[in-house]
Amino acid sequence: MTALIIDTDPGIDDAYALALACASPEVDLLGVTTVFGNVGLAMTTRNALRVLALYGRDDVPVAAGADRPLVFPHPHRARYVHGEDGLSGRSDSLPERAVGLAGTDAVSLMASLLDAADSPVTIVPIGPLTNIALLLAVYPSLAGKIGRLVVMGGSIAGGNVTAAAEFNIWSDPEAARRVLVEEEIPTVLVPTDLTHRCAVDTEWLDRLAASGSRGRVLVELTARYREYYREAIGRDCTVLHDAVAMAEAISPGILRMTPLPLEVECAPGPARGMVVADRRNPMARELSGEPSGRTVDVALDADLDAVREFLLSR
Ligand code: BDR
Ligand code: CA
Repeated sequence: MTALIIDTDPGIDDAYALALACASPEVDLLGVTTVFGNVGLAMTTRNALRVLALYGRDDVPVAAGADRPLVFPHPHRARYVHGEDGLSGRSDSLPERAVGLAGTDAVSLMASLLDAADSPVTIVPIGPLTNIALLLAVYPSLAGKIGRLVVMGGSIAGGNVTAAAEFNIWSDPEAARRVLVEEEIPTVLVPTDLTHRCAVDTEWLDRLAASGSRGRVLVELTARYREYYREAIGRDCTVLHDAVAMAEAISPGILRMTPLPLEVECAPGPARGMVVADRRNPMARELSGEPSGRTVDVALDADLDAVREFLLSR
């Protein structure tokens, strides 16, 4: 069994990632924490509870976390991608969960779950990294309980929210730098370079819809996303970024890693929130004498059809 904590900002692809975890028998879902991001915290929290309710998961504790980034106010939401409610305006089609929030905040919930765990826990942050940075700042001694961080974020070859930056990292670069660069926890970064290549098409969504009532509900949640991708890139495809990261958390090795030294740009300006990956050869790096950040496993490749089939099979 893989013990998981998911930190999320649902978000359409977050809903798919939560669904994937709920539908995977090898996952012991210890808890879900929420963060601002695609929409505001109240809405991401409501959506997380509702996706868990779709899977009858009243047993999973849920706690709300940061409603803003660590340092600078959040200038932007992704309503134009995910819809006003974060789920294409369809969140009301999901059931309400009978069990509400745990009587604690996200950081305290993660800390108590880690503290109680008797084997390493995988944390899967699929939104801005604010809650994770706070956890590591407040409870540094618990870092050793985290077996792996599987982070959806970053883009090595160009951003999706600005020319340089990917949404999750750009939403709180100071938090991202703390987690990705300053910590020593074994970390996988799943950037948009790969998630875009794992996009699913209409036929995949039709197969999901045909799989049963949950599948139909999940497909309805993609309505605004599909419109967005049609407007943005001129064809019907759906990029399930967070579900791709979740696939790696559940089935380690399904994505192929390239170890790369990383930095996160935090200075104001056009590159704020950019993940800078050092792709020079190691000797050139060493000869330059310039530090180039912590080495993180970056998922840059995979058997793309195998990933799509894995998502669908669950
Ligand atoms: C990431 O940003 C959000 O809009 C998605 O949910 C995903 O986590 C992709 O850049
Ligand atoms: Ca997300």
